Amino acid sequence: PGPIKEYSKAEVAKHNTVKDGIWVTYKGNVYDVTQFVEQHPGGDKIMLAAGGALEPFWSLYAVHNSEEVKEILQEMHIGSLKYDMNEDVIDIDDPFARDPQRHPALMINSLKPFNAEPPPELVVDSYITPNELFFVRNHLPVPVVDPKTFRLEIEFSSGKTKKFSLDDLKKFKEHTITASLQCAGNRRSEMSKYKPVKGLSWNFTAISNARWTGVLLRDVLQSAGVTLTNDEIKHVQFEGLDKDPTGAPYGASIAIEKALGPFGDVLLAYKMNGEELPGDHGFPLRVIVPGVVGARNVKWLSKIILSDIESQSHWQQNDYKGFSPSVDWDSVDFKKSVAVQDYPCQSAICQPKNGSEVHRSEETVVVKGYSWSGGGRDTIRVDVSGDGGKTWKVATLQKEHQTPYRAWAWSLWEVELPIPADGKKMEIICKSVDDSYNVQPDSVQGIWNLRGLLNNSWHHIAVDVKE
Ligand code: HEM
Ligand code: MTE
Repeated sequence: PGPIKEYSKAEVAKHNTVKDGIWVTYKGNVYDVTQFVEQHPGGDKIMLAAGGALEPFWSLYAVHNSEEVKEILQEMHIGSLKYDMNEDVIDIDDPFARDPQRHPALMINSLKPFNAEPPPELVVDSYITPNELFFVRNHLPVPVVDPKTFRLEIEFSSGKTKKFSLDDLKKFKEHTITASLQCAGNRRSEMSKYKPVKGLSWNFTAISNARWTGVLLRDVLQSAGVTLTNDEIKHVQFEGLDKDPTGAPYGASIAIEKALGPFGDVLLAYKMNGEELPGDHGFPLRVIVPGVVGARNVKWLSKIILSDIESQSHWQQNDYKGFSPSVDWDSVDFKKSVAVQDYPCQSAICQPKNGSEVHRSEETVVVKGYSWSGGGRDTIRVDVSGDGGKTWKVATLQKEHQTPYRAWAWSLWEVELPIPADGKKMEIICKSVDDSYNVQPDSVQGIWNLRGLLNNSWHHIAVDVKE
């Protein structure tokens, strides 16, 4: 054999289609896997790594941790990866330069600030979303925080304050809850197809599910003597350590009833899926307000203010509010609308992909997705249609047991639909029902709003039926 060929990351990245060849890297080596892609037992998910590293994917799918897989890979070896000394250079003028590393599979909506969602085909593979794939919604650069000097400050209605280190907080009883977070802008891209809206163009996976560990906000507040009989306290305001160019922190608030109520389960979380909170998800502390829209789940939490008014932050007052379809940017008055808190019921189809192909000879197609409702309401049913809504089949739900009124986590679901005997397209729709018997609206028309929030209309996809 001749000398080992060396390739730069940029050269490898160009090889990400069957036409140009599909290359991947693993532990400093480069492999041409073009011929293997069709035979991959895990299907076309392998394409997520095309032109890049295998490690972040193989850490999610442990089946690759075997000699057999390493041997398959070895046969496709074509060279090694060239070290690029420019890779580690940090631009000190860029406020986002110290943002954390991210998983390459995330579908990016905006790089700075970082906003991204996981690919739908990976979402339905795990009831608990791996930390690396959990959707990220940042409004500002990620603050870098030293956990040793970190203090959470609580400002009481008297104006007095009290500071807690992480160790002080950890003296309270530890709780773990499984809760899904969903951005109010999830599925905005579908809403803007009906009529343009303003905001990041989220697809349908700005939602994820994790186990959060921390202490109950209720326990911490009660230890300081705060009770529901304190009439002057109506809202609990949260501030993050991320600040906008005017120095104003990200902020939001929730009602005191949610914070102190026996079934509120509001958590000051320092762990996500058993690991320390990742930088993008609020290290070292965030609030988890289960059942409530993502925006109130303040990350990098540094201050809690007990107040008779809501947070006066931009995000509580002039964003994350719903409007009638009749309201436009000339007539909108944010003061007249109520801030979104509990999420309505939601569901979407993650598999098959919109626009993909099925073969009539296969007779059936397996459809998978997620469903969730806010306010502690559980999904009780998901109906799925393979003929544009003429007939429906009830999906099988995969979920853990949840206590009534405290169902904070999503359900994944699955159903096998018959492929129709004729026609070139199959229109697949899903819709869910929660335990208050709320249902999703059938179209965007009646819920359209200028900010494109809370699109929970029936989710439609179409697949091509091949002979
Ligand atoms: C399964 C090889 C890349 C996702 C497998 C299996 C092999 C394999 C041999 C079967 C393992 C078993 O059942 O014991 C490879 C090779 C790759 C590669 C050689 C790279 C060249 C990827 C990537 C993904 C992926 C990038 C991305 C998500 C999967 C999944 C399965 C699987 C989900 C499991 C399928 C099942 O549960 O039946 N792969 N793989 N693979 N692979 Fe890969
Ligand atoms: N908290 C801070 N401090 N800064 C933010 O930008 N974004 C909010 C919320 N908390 C945000 C924040 C929004 S809009 C959402 S949807 C969730 O965080 C997203 O949480 P995640 O990035 O952990 O998925």
